[in-house]
Amino acid sequence: MTTAGLRPLMDMFMIKTNKFFLSAVILVVAALGQPAYGAGRIYNGSAWRDTDGNAINAHGGGMYYENGYYYWFGENRRGMRSYGVSVYRSEDLMNWESLGLALTPTGDKKNTLQDIAEGRTIERPKVIKCEKTGKYVMWAHWEDGNDYSKARVMIAQADKVEGPYSLVRTLRPNGAESRDQTVFVDSDGTGYHFSSSEDNMTMHLAVLSDDYLIPTENWTRIFAGKQYEAPAIMKINGTYIGFFSGCTGWRPNPGHVATTRNLMGEWNDLGNPCVDANAETTYTSQPTYALKVEGYDYAYMYMGDRWNSSNVETSTYVWLPVMLRTGVPFLRWFDSWNPSMFETLDAIRRAESISDGNTYVLLSRMADRIVSLNDNKLCLLDDDDARMLNFVFEATGESDTYKLRRDGGDDYLTASSSGVSLQPGDDTVSQKWVLERQSDNFYIVSSPKDGKILSVRDASMANGAELELIPRTGASKARFGVYFDSRRFDYPENSPWGERNSSGVENVLNERSSMPVISYENGKLIVRVEESASRRPIAVTLYDLGGRVVAVDSVMAVDGTAVLEYPSCRSGMYIVKVVDNGQPVSMKIAVSK
Ligand code: GAL
Repeated sequence: MTTAGLRPLMDMFMIKTNKFFLSAVILVVAALGQPAYGAGRIYNGSAWRDTDGNAINAHGGGMYYENGYYYWFGENRRGMRSYGVSVYRSEDLMNWESLGLALTPTGDKKNTLQDIAEGRTIERPKVIKCEKTGKYVMWAHWEDGNDYSKARVMIAQADKVEGPYSLVRTLRPNGAESRDQTVFVDSDGTGYHFSSSEDNMTMHLAVLSDDYLIPTENWTRIFAGKQYEAPAIMKINGTYIGFFSGCTGWRPNPGHVATTRNLMGEWNDLGNPCVDANAETTYTSQPTYALKVEGYDYAYMYMGDRWNSSNVETSTYVWLPVMLRTGVPFLRWFDSWNPSMFETLDAIRRAESISDGNTYVLLSRMADRIVSLNDNKLCLLDDDDARMLNFVFEATGESDTYKLRRDGGDDYLTASSSGVSLQPGDDTVSQKWVLERQSDNFYIVSSPKDGKILSVRDASMANGAELELIPRTGASKARFGVYFDSRRFDYPENSPWGERNSSGVENVLNERSSMPVISYENGKLIVRVEESASRRPIAVTLYDLGGRVVAVDSVMAVDGTAVLEYPSCRSGMYIVKVVDNGQPVSMKIAVSK
């Protein structure tokens, strides 16, 4: 409820001029404005309470959806100590009803380690349903309570989703260590277990038995030597997407998003999925689950833990929508958000092609934000039906050239010397736009007036970043997608996630940063840095052979190639070090006259 919604109520009290009641109402309003719980938004990193008002205690959690309810399972903690697995349920991902403990510590500690006695550590519980047996199966990381050296999984089973779960066994999958873990059920019903193994250096991935109660001998190693943990897996049509963290205990680190079309095959590591400030700590979170949000085609939510290493019980939660529309999964930061955001995130679809007279929006490739009108300025905004600009594309007769009329108005996207604005229609070249389709299905939008291209000020991806026109150079190839509102129009789609559309999926797989190319042209040392997956500045440092720093640069090559020129480096040997997304790439180069 908003304060605006309470206005009539307040007016009523005003009429009575009962000051006591008025201040009581104001207090209630103030309390509703607090980021607490059930307040109609997901407030990241703040203490969440259940519908009884108790702190939600469900860490390293996972979800299971059934009959209109999301069931959230997570580590129940008493301070640092583990105490079974909690379960909550919700219809809207915001109001959570506690159903108590799904798994309660019971029995005595046994030397065989086949127990769930109080004092044992149970982490990262995940529940899946086995259609074959009709049972709910919980997998979790199990330790004896002393340290993390036992590295086992616990498998428990229940007849009802909320439990009670009883222990089936603990084990080491195929004899190997197993710490951070998750389970994933593929569309064909095959179950998989992901876990950090080999001293957390390498992830193991095993196919589960038909009853999901044991890993089979069909297993493989993925991300060998990369020290990935905290796996969270989702699938869109034929593409699997995994979120992982690095391995730094309770401390957060830069995460990784990776995709594959073959779970047991090669994974394509796309680097850190985060693009906003605090990306280097995955927004102070560690992944735990990737949830398919019901009621939409392409709505998924990242779930992470913001650990409090001195009192795990009070750790908080970071949940974010996964940005998917461009074909590259990534995470933007939101202090708070409402799952209704998925309405537009899901509804804005990529058009197969441009047709004369159709109505489209322009979506920035790097930001997944839509060209909108805010305070009379053209800028990129988070999805907002009231402010996003729908343009009717009017063919001009010249190839790939259109006029873009604001839907419902008679003003057009118009180029001025540096900016863009909406102006009443005229027949000048300033209102014509050339849309050149690129291999990734995005477009370079340029003005035939002077060849300048549509871009975003300072290559920003931020909410509110203003549009501008910039000269077309190698380093600035801002691209926009031609998308449409599928709630209003039924145009042919070209989803980057379509099962049929292999080209779209290849886009995802090819979105990699590449090595810098170094050359010596016209008496200048030139470093070209190709597109980065990180969407953050790439650091370039130039050293001489004595190890002295000659130059330090930071470039954004998010939309093409960035070119750095060093005219003073005429001859000699230099070392160029490029750090992209936290990964240093060094190489020696010879420069001669
Ligand atoms: C993290 C892991 C957590 C917890 C923690 C203990 O690496 O992801 O689930 O086990 O270590 O230090």
